[in-house]
Amino acid sequence: MNEKTSLARPNTVLARAGFTSGFGVLAATLGSAVGLGNIWKFPYLTGANGGASFLLVYVLATLLVGLPVMMAEISLGRVGKANPISTLQALAPKGQPWWLIGVAGMLGAFLILSFYSEVVAWVFAYVVKAMRGSILSSDPQVTGAAFNALISDPMQSLLWQWGVLLFIGGILLMGVTKGIEAVTKKLMPILFLLLLLLCAVSLSLDKAWEGLVFLFHPDFSKITASVVLTAMGLAFFKLSIGMGTMMTYGSYFRDDQNIPLTTLRVMAADLSISMLAGIAIFPAVFTFGFAPTAGPSLVFITIPAVFSQIPMGQSLMVVFFVLAAIAATGAMLSLMEVPVVILHERLGLTRPKATLLTIFLLVILGSTSALSNSTLADFKLFGMTPFDLFDFVSSNIILPGGGIFIALFVGWVWGFDKFGGALTNKGHLQNQKVAQAVFFLLRYVSPALILVVMLKGLNLF
Ligand code: TRP
Repeated sequence: MNEKTSLARPNTVLARAGFTSGFGVLAATLGSAVGLGNIWKFPYLTGANGGASFLLVYVLATLLVGLPVMMAEISLGRVGKANPISTLQALAPKGQPWWLIGVAGMLGAFLILSFYSEVVAWVFAYVVKAMRGSILSSDPQVTGAAFNALISDPMQSLLWQWGVLLFIGGILLMGVTKGIEAVTKKLMPILFLLLLLLCAVSLSLDKAWEGLVFLFHPDFSKITASVVLTAMGLAFFKLSIGMGTMMTYGSYFRDDQNIPLTTLRVMAADLSISMLAGIAIFPAVFTFGFAPTAGPSLVFITIPAVFSQIPMGQSLMVVFFVLAAIAATGAMLSLMEVPVVILHERLGLTRPKATLLTIFLLVILGSTSALSNSTLADFKLFGMTPFDLFDFVSSNIILPGGGIFIALFVGWVWGFDKFGGALTNKGHLQNQKVAQAVFFLLRYVSPALILVVMLKGLNLF
């Protein structure tokens, strides 16, 4: 049986576990959204793309494109009650290939996971480094060298990554409800409190003000087409949309869950956590003379310098990286859930086998990301290392592309009655106005906006 025909095979009905409580749904969805996107990607992209003006475009993209697409995905998932491929197949008219969005999403999940797992590997390695105190220094040279020593060592990069993959696989093997829900429920509130503490410390630094001006005072001359695409890609990445994660999580939602309200809460909490991460980092960057444009290394080289300056710095740094690891775990769980559930429900593998196969594939593909700063540093495709390429292609092409098709599907094929029914729980909730506005965005605004930003940002027109 070749892969294509088996993927297109109608879904056999399988018993599915779901989230058991309203808070569990919120916590797990938030657990997917909040991750290294907040703590690693958001600060370094904001730093590299001009600060406040980037932040502004990012917030606009989240509202105009992110929110509608997220509500669309969750609604489709909850009505379809299956993996993204089966859901789209069931909801589309016979013979129309909308299920390909699910296939693209699965590929996207593998691309994202292959570099994401490596960044998580750095975070795990930093927990250990922080405990040993070996990276605590205010000298940018020293913290930079410590980071480079880690990422340019092929053995360390690979072994930490494999450890991360096994760890996440172990949680997934425990099953949807017990695994994801139990883990995220306990950890999310702790994460929030720890970040607040870090902000308080950073705001008390000498040049905290400069950091705040950078983060909140926009300079519009910094906005270019590629900055806009980067900001929109980050909006998709942050909300975990465009590739079926939210569709999959939507399939675990209960029928009485208020989808617009849950979406808004997740967006607001996710944005707040990104802002807190920014407020924790930029005052420090300016106080100690780091370059906000440092790129992917920003968090890893700045944070140790900050902590070296304050009382109990070493313990607080352990706290910070444990916190980042926790956030990253919830996000990775949700990313892995997509290929696992597709392999399980479409190809009939048991969940444990589907999980093991996913991990095995990631060990192989992920190694190319792990080795991107050492053995494979000179191996470039389109001028990018595998790590950079996977990151670029997923955030700037696959996620926004998936977003276009999800919006078009809901706006023009699935239609207002069904979408409105999902947002109002068949009329039980007072969400009629919201449903109309969001449907209008999905039908006319989001797809066109995403397309223009993509074409301009990729320099295609
Ligand atoms: N949103 C997560 C983060 O910020 C990453 C993530 C999880 C993701 N699931 C996703 C990104 C699905 C894109 C698509 O770290």
